[in-house]
Amino acid sequence: MRVTGVIRIAAMLFSLGTMWFFAQTYFNTSWKIVSLRSWRDSSPGLANEQNAAKAQLPRNKCNNKRSCPENSFAFRVTSGAANVVGPSLCFENTILMSVVKNNIGRGLNIALVNGTNGQLMKTASFDMYSGEIKNLLSFLKEISSGTIVIVSSYDDPATKLNEEARTLFTELGSSYASKLGFRDNWIFIGAKGLRDKSPYEQHLKNDAAQNKYDGWPEVLEMEGCIPKKMD
Ligand SMILES: *[C@@H]1O[C@H](CO)[C@@H](O)[C@H](O)[C@H]1NC(C)=O
Repeated sequence: MRVTGVIRIAAMLFSLGTMWFFAQTYFNTSWKIVSLRSWRDSSPGLANEQNAAKAQLPRNKCNNKRSCPENSFAFRVTSGAANVVGPSLCFENTILMSVVKNNIGRGLNIALVNGTNGQLMKTASFDMYSGEIKNLLSFLKEISSGTIVIVSSYDDPATKLNEEARTLFTELGSSYASKLGFRDNWIFIGAKGLRDKSPYEQHLKNDAAQNKYDGWPEVLEMEGCIPKKMD
């Protein structure tokens, strides 16, 4: 077997592993097992991609590299780029928040989605540099069980973040909320009722020696599939 084949299989097993992990911790409910075969068959390989291009087949949801198995939602989340380009949140092929939709802002951009049917419930943007932390706190406290929470940072996610807000994010499954700092980049998908850490999170520290932009780190992007909540 070619080395690239081995790597692809390792990547698929890893994807399945994280999905399984998330499912196990997700709302304490059972999760239908996706077989490796159906996963592989539904993920377009190079040949499939070339055929798809020829036949003009529909692209994957959110323009993702792989299609998502049944009983999961496709997502793609991008953080802001410095204080210049705003973040974007795609879920099941719908842009929930973006510059074009004109519903993003400096700080933390958050979309709430029903974990069972994928319906958008709410979007909101919280200025974490000069806004009121109480707005974010009341928003986070009102999230009901079974809700998927999608978060993307823009410019500065942390100046106003206090212990209470950090703890609320940690309870949604975040590993980095407790350490977020001034102008760090952060994208995160958690859920209310999650029993463990979410595998869907990326964080880049604002570090003058490493920053891609003058004063800000590189843009973060994450795509994948989230298991639906099974009742
Ligand atoms: C999500 O939608 C289902 C119906 O499809 C409903 O029963 C459930 O209460 C909703 N969950 C939340 C968190 O609103």
